[in-house]
Amino acid sequence: MILETKALGKSFGRFAANADIDFSVEAGELRAVIGPNGAGKTTFFNLLSGTTEATSGTIFFKGNDITRLDGTKRVHLGIAKAFQTANIYPEQTVLQNCRLAALAHTQGAFALELLRRSGRLSGVDALAERALEQVDLGGVAGVRSGDLAHGDKKRLDIAIALATAPEILLLDEPVAGMSRDEARKTEALVRKLASSMTVLIIEHDMDLIMGISDSITVLEAGRVLANGTPAEIRANQRVQDAYLGGHSEAEIEA
Ligand SMILES: Nc1ncnc2c1ncn2[C@@H]1O[C@H](COP(=O)(O)OP(=O)(O)OP(=O)(O)O)[C@@H](O)[C@H]1O
Ligand SMILES: [Mg+2]
Repeated sequence: MILETKALGKSFGRFAANADIDFSVEAGELRAVIGPNGAGKTTFFNLLSGTTEATSGTIFFKGNDITRLDGTKRVHLGIAKAFQTANIYPEQTVLQNCRLAALAHTQGAFALELLRRSGRLSGVDALAERALEQVDLGGVAGVRSGDLAHGDKKRLDIAIALATAPEILLLDEPVAGMSRDEARKTEALVRKLASSMTVLIIEHDMDLIMGISDSITVLEAGRVLANGTPAEIRANQRVQDAYLGGHSEAEIEA
């Protein structure tokens, strides 16, 4: 088990965005986390990445309790989240953004200052360049990040996460807002990444999720509604009820 949570919870005031979440992932798995809008998926990823602090429960990484470690320490351990473009410095080039992430991984804070003062840093550059190649952005390494097309920005997000050499990659809606072609390209990328690391993915695109996942966890109203293979989840009546308000797919289509 690479990652596990026990009775994990996050409350905002009296509102429980996550409650009593028991969750576990085997190393190498591609696990999807799905659920209706507001189900608590992003909150759950924020708890795993250390972006927000749990109000109850425990998180284990390789058997060690990481519940109270901050996000930077978790990145060092090998847990990375692609942060829906919030992580990108738009004025910096694509390569420079990846170098910053790689440097944060190897050196911690003051990354930007260090990079400004230094030329090439071999370990850092190797990580950054490899990350860009993995997401097929090597050709735009010198472009100002703010000038990238939407799909490329989202792939840069993934590259920034990859530049920290993660063992677990958390992807929150990596194909949202993408054209069909871009989405297909990102789907192929996620498949490829999943062959060398554990991947957790939140996505609303059901065809994509059913096609690529080893297993699926369904959240509803902050709690785990179901766990299973794509086939099991598709056939699960409680999941259908959560998504379709009590009507079967056939009824809806009729
Ligand atoms: N910082 C916060 N303060 C108060 N409430 C919050 C906060 N963050 C999230 N919530 C609430 O927690 C619930 C779960 O939100 P979350 O973003 O985790 O859902 P989600 O499953 O990712 O939804 P979506 O599919 O729309 O992205 C929502 O009702 C949201 O309004
Ligand atoms: Mg969300």
